[in-house]
Amino acid sequence: MKKIKKDRMGKEVEKLQKRIAELKKLETDCRKSESKCKRSEAECRKSESECKRLEKERERLLRIIENTKAAIFITSYDGTIIYTNPAMDELFGYQKGELLGEKPSAFSTSPDPVKFMKDTMRILEKEGYWEGAVPNRKKDGTKFTTYVRKSVLKDNKGAITNFLITENDITEHNHVKDQLKESLNKLEDVLEETIRAMALTIEKRDIFTAGHQRRVAELAFTIAKAINLSKDKVKGVYMAGLLHDIGKISIPAELLMKPAILNEIELKLIRNHPQTAYDILKEIEFPWPIATIALQHHERMNGSGYPNGLTSKNIILESRILAVADVVEAMSSARPYRPALGVDKALEEISSKKGLLYDSDVVDTCVKLFKEGGFKFK
Ligand SMILES: [Fe+2]
Ligand SMILES: [Fe+2]
Repeated sequence: MKKIKKDRMGKEVEKLQKRIAELKKLETDCRKSESKCKRSEAECRKSESECKRLEKERERLLRIIENTKAAIFITSYDGTIIYTNPAMDELFGYQKGELLGEKPSAFSTSPDPVKFMKDTMRILEKEGYWEGAVPNRKKDGTKFTTYVRKSVLKDNKGAITNFLITENDITEHNHVKDQLKESLNKLEDVLEETIRAMALTIEKRDIFTAGHQRRVAELAFTIAKAINLSKDKVKGVYMAGLLHDIGKISIPAELLMKPAILNEIELKLIRNHPQTAYDILKEIEFPWPIATIALQHHERMNGSGYPNGLTSKNIILESRILAVADVVEAMSSARPYRPALGVDKALEEISSKKGLLYDSDVVDTCVKLFKEGGFKFK
């Protein structure tokens, strides 16, 4: 009897212990979900304040875009205008909202606006940014040019959704640029006239070499062009040609016109003219290395020239061109001590010393110009 009672009590205790364990688990679960609730409540509050912050930020940005002087508009992916700021409407002469639904090709005067859009789109997709000058038309038909900057706007998966475009009127800027270019051209003309006047000064003292510098300049210019020197270097060669013998100003006129072969002392005096030319020309700030070109025009490839006995790699190309043009012109014309030898003899001379005294490419080009290009001294 006692044993039966004991067994029943044992079972009751077991049941109670199980129940207690269940209640404890329930209590733990409750605590856990209570803390979860608290956490998500905090997260909710946090994201709500983040939403408010973002909204304020959006309003602030919109205020900036609306008030900026820079013309801004946004298009959808297919190029339809979905937003314009007041500066954009004002720049193109439209009322607020009038441009919405239009495409930029409506006011672009590019020869092929559709192709232009496709080309810029390709760059935008690849690089995310495009900029350049675009010809446009205002609502009243006035044509003008803007400098356009386009960038892409993406969603959080990285796909392009919109394009943000800014437009800057550069009509005035282009006008100033044109005026500046015109002034520079005028200045260059004045400089050329001044150089010609300087060249004439020296030629007035020496009637035998009158016109020598001009003819050398013309041949050197034509050679420089034929060997594809840049436009600027070709101009430099021409200007240096006009002045290369200016150093002769320090040589007595009687010596320059002496109808006999010169003695050693006289030759030394004459051979000083490239250095004198350099000393005069280095004082003037030319946009080309005229002083150096003149200094090296009697240098020779094998180092036998003067005044510094430079060898090929140390003689600038412009001087190597001038050297050939100088010899060809001098031999083709009469000198106080000899009659003109003629162009054929001059070409024979430079060809026979090709690579030794004169630059091979320059000689080949010069010979070709006379024999095939129809070049003639005027
Ligand atoms: Fe010379
Ligand atoms: Fe010369």
